[in-house]
Amino acid sequence: MFDYDTRLLKGDRNGINEAASLLSKGELVAIPTETVYGLAANALNPGAVRRIFEAKGRPQDNPLIVHISDIKDLKPLVTEIPDNARMLAQKYWPGPLTMIFHRSGLVPDEVSAGLSTVAIRMPSHPVALAIISKAGVPLAAPSANRSGSPSPTTAGHVLKDMAGRIPAIVDGGESPVGVESTVLDLTGDVPRLLRPGGITPEQIRAVTGELVIDSAVTGRMEEGTVPHSPGMKYRHYSPKAKVILVKGSREAFTAFVNSKKGEGVAAMCFDGEGQDLQVPFVTYGGRNDPAEQAHRVFDALRRIDEIDARVVYCACPEPDGIGLAVYNRLLRSAGFEVVELDE
Ligand code: TXA
Ligand code: MG
Repeated sequence: MFDYDTRLLKGDRNGINEAASLLSKGELVAIPTETVYGLAANALNPGAVRRIFEAKGRPQDNPLIVHISDIKDLKPLVTEIPDNARMLAQKYWPGPLTMIFHRSGLVPDEVSAGLSTVAIRMPSHPVALAIISKAGVPLAAPSANRSGSPSPTTAGHVLKDMAGRIPAIVDGGESPVGVESTVLDLTGDVPRLLRPGGITPEQIRAVTGELVIDSAVTGRMEEGTVPHSPGMKYRHYSPKAKVILVKGSREAFTAFVNSKKGEGVAAMCFDGEGQDLQVPFVTYGGRNDPAEQAHRVFDALRRIDEIDARVVYCACPEPDGIGLAVYNRLLRSAGFEVVELDE
């Protein structure tokens, strides 16, 4: 069933029209967003939504985010809009913030994987907005990677994972943010951060005052517990190589990695900190530049596979601001394996 001759469309008017027309026919199209590329389908068409799960190899119990292009498209999808959501939407939409609401009868079970809630976001990427608006329906879209691998931040990454599995990819250049949206649950008394992303906890608190950070953000899910966000329980964002996070100064990191050098050993480090490493390395932004780390972290994880590493020691980022999202993704790609170096 996956025998498409996958086409690369430009993010121009023709490409946008073509994408919208495929989506209206119930087909899947990978689209650029400011966070990562999404694998989109008409969110109101259960058959189209099921195809997303098949093309990605995604577990059936992991719900999808619904993307809208206009605030007036929110109301029909939810049963109520809490005040916090209204204020957050006003401040951070369009942008990298996903909010969880109680869902209305319009949202198919397939989108929410059987939950009574629905995740909604309005992306800020002009090509994404144009495609949603031209398609005339909300679009369900997870990240456009094969389940388990790093999220795609270029059309080339999507092609690598999805060639033959979908009819088209719209190329909108590199995703500027580089990590997925912040996921915020607004169905309880206090807003709960389920996944850190482009909008930081400080930015949310500036609007809501209160915010609970779910324990799954920086911790491992206990076996058998029910996660607030189903996506948190899966191993994620992983290259083929085994990733190990290493906390410490540049000097301590260099000495530690060099003590491990050997066949198949590589490093992922900050810009300008690789000169003394005796193993192949890739960099992912400056030590004090979390926005650049976010922009490059998934590409760096993909480049690790190109150098055929077996084990990669990755310099651990500071979990502040958008750095919390970078840390959260790397912790998952490392399967929570962290080495803390004594200084
Ligand atoms: O930036 C993004 O959010 C990208 C772009 C394409 O918009 N999308 C994305 O989708 O990252 P995905 O499917 O890779 O991640 C969605 C996350 C998952 O962790 C999922 O479990 C959670 O959102 N989620 C979706 N619906 C939910 C719900 N009703 N309740 C709790 N968590 C939900
Ligand atoms: Mg994903």
